[in-house]
Amino acid sequence: MQAGRLITFEGGEGSGKSTQARLLAEILRAQGHRVTLTREPGGTPLAEAIRELVLGNWAEGMDGVTELLLMFAARAAHLHGLIQPALAQGQIVICDRFIDSSHAYQGGGQGIDGTHLAALEALVMPTLRIDLTFILDLPVAQGLARARARGQTNRFEDVHTSFMQRVREAFLQRAAQFPDRCAVIDASAPRAAVTRAIEDRVAALLQQKAH
Ligand code: TYD
Repeated sequence: MQAGRLITFEGGEGSGKSTQARLLAEILRAQGHRVTLTREPGGTPLAEAIRELVLGNWAEGMDGVTELLLMFAARAAHLHGLIQPALAQGQIVICDRFIDSSHAYQGGGQGIDGTHLAALEALVMPTLRIDLTFILDLPVAQGLARARARGQTNRFEDVHTSFMQRVREAFLQRAAQFPDRCAVIDASAPRAAVTRAIEDRVAALLQQKAH
């Protein structure tokens, strides 16, 4: 049994999900909740080291299978080192990107078959329950423009529009597949409106579980 709550934020480049994840953590802490805010790939020293590998620009390039396995290796380390202990202590864990990003980027974007993703998911997180997932949805051109304006690009943000279009569609497919845990949020709305929508949904989750 999972004592805590796991809330994940997903979306394409420039969707503002990292900002919203941070704001939600601040709001919940101010309400007195114990919150762990973390991110993927990364979140523990080992998983952050794997992040450096997987997001790095390698002269030889990186094939989709290596990328997929590193993403799941980072996730296994993250679950073991941080997420599961925090959930066992009854904390609210907020994670900036999680499993749906693998389905969207390695599945939708890179075209890796869903059966491989399902097998890795069964290996790495057989019993984990995600309570709520926010998918911050934004037209691709708008998201890429925001990411570029921010100026920090990694090799994932340097991709072409058709890749990001497939990523967006895969996120929306995941939302349709798991309507109970996924909330699609219009990320083109003003930041405060996005925060309010997220806050309302989390309040409903926490109330529902209190009964
Ligand atoms: P990051 O700089 O954190 O981007 P963002 O601010 O958009 O979250 O880089 C994380 C990148 O890793 C992002 O482009 C998506 C990618 N990613 C995957 O491809 N698969 C995954 O499973 C995860 C967790 C992330």
